[in-house]
Amino acid sequence: MERFLTADDLDKALRQDVWEGLTAHPKTLPPKWFYDERGSALFEEITELDEYYPTRRERQILLEHAREIAAATGARTLLELGAGSGEKTRLLLAALSAEGTLRDYVPVDVSGDFLAAAAGRIARDHPHLTVRPVVADYEQHLHLLPTGPPRLLVFLGGTIGNFPPAERSSFLSALRATMDDRDALLLGADLVKDTGRLVRAYADARGVTAEFNRNVLHVINRRLEADFVPEAFDHIALWDPRNEWIEMRLRARDAQTVRIGGLELTVEFAAGEQMRTEISAKFRPERLEAELNAAGLALEALWTDEHGDFSLSLARPA
Ligand code: SAH
Ligand code: AVI
Repeated sequence: MERFLTADDLDKALRQDVWEGLTAHPKTLPPKWFYDERGSALFEEITELDEYYPTRRERQILLEHAREIAAATGARTLLELGAGSGEKTRLLLAALSAEGTLRDYVPVDVSGDFLAAAAGRIARDHPHLTVRPVVADYEQHLHLLPTGPPRLLVFLGGTIGNFPPAERSSFLSALRATMDDRDALLLGADLVKDTGRLVRAYADARGVTAEFNRNVLHVINRRLEADFVPEAFDHIALWDPRNEWIEMRLRARDAQTVRIGGLELTVEFAAGEQMRTEISAKFRPERLEAELNAAGLALEALWTDEHGDFSLSLARPA
């Protein structure tokens, strides 16, 4: 497995993010740190919840359009950012293999152990493919990722919505800058819909999303010798109508003092204090197209599922 992120790099980045986030007002933590092996497994569990529709809807769109995508792109390399388990991607791998063009599958993720296991399963099931997993941060390492046009760059799940707007725009431009004219981008994005359904998708009845949210505290405890009591934080999911995003927060149930040994930092939480851990932006097709255009990408197709819940866009360098 190729690593652009060593354990040391990850450690430095976590220290910096935790220091900045927990000394800021209001406190925040970036969502990247949900994903250790447990966090990735919890995310997989979320994808199977009744309330969490995005994965099922995106799979439905892929089922309907994978052959068309394969024919239109004729990709030799499928490079997937934030690949996770890569389960839905199997539909694209099958379609591109049937098309006869695909040689390499390059899943990229920060969650190294989970990625290695997922890539191993995919390699076993696709002996004709070269599977080359890469541990990397797509906010830093896009320019280092393998070329080999025509590539299909794939970013599924609606993870694009986890960037704040300015970072999203920089990310799309940076991605465009790595693209050859023969490459294409397949982008999954969740759509604006009924607020009740949106909130329920992020505050499921069984509390799996709450556990996923608190996992960031477990990660900090383990890696930075901190003494957060994760159960002393309540999970919050709320819809921000102005920004059209879901926001996940952790709310300190009582006043508490947390020692982060690895940073020699002591952090005070007031009773009821809230800390933002994730945004998950929801899109309207016009805005998505405008953002792709602003990054130098032209929309070739935008598909939605039959309920109009989720979208998959195919874009190319303009
Ligand atoms: N694409 C999968 C997984 C989505 S979960 C799906 O659609 O189901 C988001 C994935 O992005 C996780 O596997 C997480 O580890 C990865 N991730 C989050 N931030 C990242 C970053 N900065 N660089 C690389 N991968 C990242
Ligand atoms: C990975 N990402 C698209 C998920 C989302 O829906 O924003 C992460 C997640 N957070 C809570 N549930 C799922």
